[in-house]
Amino acid sequence: MTAPTETRAAFAALNGNTPEELFGALPTPCYILDEAQLSRNAAVLDGIRRRTGCRILLAQKAFSNFDLYPALAPALDGTEASGLFEARLGREAMPEGEVHVFSAAYRAADIPEVLRYADHIVFNSPRQLSLYGEAACAAGCSIGLRINPECSTQEGHAIYDPCAPGSRLGTTRAQWDAEMTPALIALLDGLHFHTLCEQDSDALETTLSAVEEKFGGVLLRMKWLNMGGGHHITRPGYDIARLERCIRRAQTAWNVTVYLEPGEACALNAGFLASRVLDVRKNGDTNIAILDASAACHMPDVLEMPYTPPLWSAAEPGMLPCTFRLGGPTCLAGDVIGEYAFPAPLKEGDLLLFGDMAIYTTCKNNTFNGMPLPDIYRRGADGALTPLTHFGYEDFKGRLGTREQPHFHRKGTANHG
Ligand SMILES: Cc1ncc(COP(=O)(O)O)c(C=O)c1O
Repeated sequence: MTAPTETRAAFAALNGNTPEELFGALPTPCYILDEAQLSRNAAVLDGIRRRTGCRILLAQKAFSNFDLYPALAPALDGTEASGLFEARLGREAMPEGEVHVFSAAYRAADIPEVLRYADHIVFNSPRQLSLYGEAACAAGCSIGLRINPECSTQEGHAIYDPCAPGSRLGTTRAQWDAEMTPALIALLDGLHFHTLCEQDSDALETTLSAVEEKFGGVLLRMKWLNMGGGHHITRPGYDIARLERCIRRAQTAWNVTVYLEPGEACALNAGFLASRVLDVRKNGDTNIAILDASAACHMPDVLEMPYTPPLWSAAEPGMLPCTFRLGGPTCLAGDVIGEYAFPAPLKEGDLLLFGDMAIYTTCKNNTFNGMPLPDIYRRGADGALTPLTHFGYEDFKGRLGTREQPHFHRKGTANHG
């Protein structure tokens, strides 16, 4: 398949080469993480840090392939973690950076270890702050509370809107007024909000006004303000100048250190999922191709968001002669990646390359149906491909029960005792 017109940002890292030329020798399915694109994203983030003096952290929930952290680390101030394991990973894999942790609620048993790794710990509620704030203070952590400015700026994505009615995320002004005591307020060094998802800086500007209205007085006593993630900074066309105005506005109004903790923006368009066609069928008018990669297992956000991932050289349904529905090999009827149009019919063995597959994939995939985890390859800045993982049956089995010595039963020789 040739596609001389493939110009989308998700495939810029291919530099005009075809997937077969670059990745045809790799076993599929597999993820490929692109070091040069990570460095390009990092340079954009670094520019914002240098021009504004803000600090930027990698949200590891989106991207935690630590072998690639060196491509990002020089441009970042550290990592953001959602709990104990990510905090430990951040401390181990980006040791020169700060470690910030936010969890909707912490387990008491985890707190001592979390506090060993964390520079900043952010609590979700006054109750959690009252439970663990003193210990965090004694451990030398900078302490924050996540606020909920009750300002929804996204539509149709309730699952990604922390400001949706009844949200469990963050402390509203009413909750603050009812539950925050002077002693609890005295424990705080900063406030944190995270309200955006793949949005531009106009949504941040709107949110900042809501924060100012509800928590402006409180912020005058704070040392820092963390504006969370969801800033699609490295997307072509993102309004960086407006973001920088928002950062300066907070710095000037409250004399705070501003933190951003983007996940997507760090690793946007820096990865691929390569997959081959296993079978081609037709049901009525619908052409179907079954791939060796699964939406449910290997790109779960396709079903959860939901969205249709970019596919190299394919177009919207109907825009090229042959439209196919692409699905995975699992039992789930809805394991469908999307409908795409191609210049010619797909056939068994064709290599398909999905773009923007570094984020919310390798850290979120699963082995439903016993699907193998795709191996992960690093594509170095020189184009060299290096395997980072060797997933196999033991990774599937090890998550499900005792890790004993393997017993091999030939067909028909199992002891039915
Ligand atoms: C608290 C927090 N910070 C940062 C992020 C990263 O968001 P994104 O990857 O959209 O930039 C998230 C994502 O859910 C989050 O919940």
